[in-house]
Amino acid sequence: MSKITPIAAAVAAASLFLVAGQGTAQQAPAATQGAAPAKPAATAPDATGVKRPEPLKKRAPDKAAPQTEVLIMDSQGIRMAPANVSAQMLAEYLILESAGFDLSQATQEGTTGKDRLVQDDIQKLCSLGKGQQLDPKAAQKVSEIATASIKYPEGGIKLGDWKKGRDLAWSGFGFRTAHNPDDHSKQQPGANCYNCHQLATDRTGGTIGPPLTSYGKLRGNSEEILKYTYGVIYNAHAFFPCTNMPRMGARNILTQEQIADVMAYLFDPASPVNTSAMSGMSGM
Ligand code: HEC
Repeated sequence: MSKITPIAAAVAAASLFLVAGQGTAQQAPAATQGAAPAKPAATAPDATGVKRPEPLKKRAPDKAAPQTEVLIMDSQGIRMAPANVSAQMLAEYLILESAGFDLSQATQEGTTGKDRLVQDDIQKLCSLGKGQQLDPKAAQKVSEIATASIKYPEGGIKLGDWKKGRDLAWSGFGFRTAHNPDDHSKQQPGANCYNCHQLATDRTGGTIGPPLTSYGKLRGNSEEILKYTYGVIYNAHAFFPCTNMPRMGARNILTQEQIADVMAYLFDPASPVNTSAMSGMSGM
């Protein structure tokens, strides 16, 4: 047990969260040595003879300092940063300077975390607009690059096994790194569809993308719709430039065979996507 030190003196000099975040109960006396403590001997010893620190108080607003602060958490612990830093500055600080992210970490695709920060052509074009309305020329270019990337299966698109497709669609396993990297020798990467799409009504999916419930029932299974759906899964930017949807084929997340399995999950009449009790309803 470390000795409880006159933390109240440190509070006078530093902000409440700074002291708490750095966990510097032991360092506090050194930092404040020589400075006249605002309230020496803050409290009387209690029955055990241990001095209790004063309850922490918020520092009085300092005109020179920003009025509010944001809580940040990185490899150095939990600290406060001025709230007037932009989101981008904060993100860059957290990723590049605070060592909050191990950039040298090996990734499943055989590169490093740093390589993942290098944008490819589509990402560069999509970053130009910075959340603004996409420039039609850039959108056209993105769509062209994406369309050129799509490799259709030889012999045409055939639907695979919807059960395998369901397992893939509901698995988010794959390319996570950090402290517990997804190990492909133990489990194959999933397709992650559920995170953005409602797929069937036997489970709850995400809402970033449109609901795909009753997909086959509503769309039929013409060659045209199969080709469109294959293309969307392979590289959705061909149809939706700068979409959030990951490029499952173009980025080697799914093989052609796995795309066929996921498509079976969307199209097969026996799949829960098309047999769900509430199938046919939109907006679910
Ligand atoms: C990170 C979110 C995300 C993930 C993961 C995702 N999608 Fe999407 N998807 C979207 C968004 C968003 C759209 C709508 C296009 C747009 O406007 O950007 C979309 C569109 C679609 C469409 C076209 C829908 C239509 O009405 O024509 C299909 C089909 C589709 N996704 C299937 C899938 C499948 C299958 C998977 C898994 C392999 C998947 N998506 C994974 C976000 C995602």
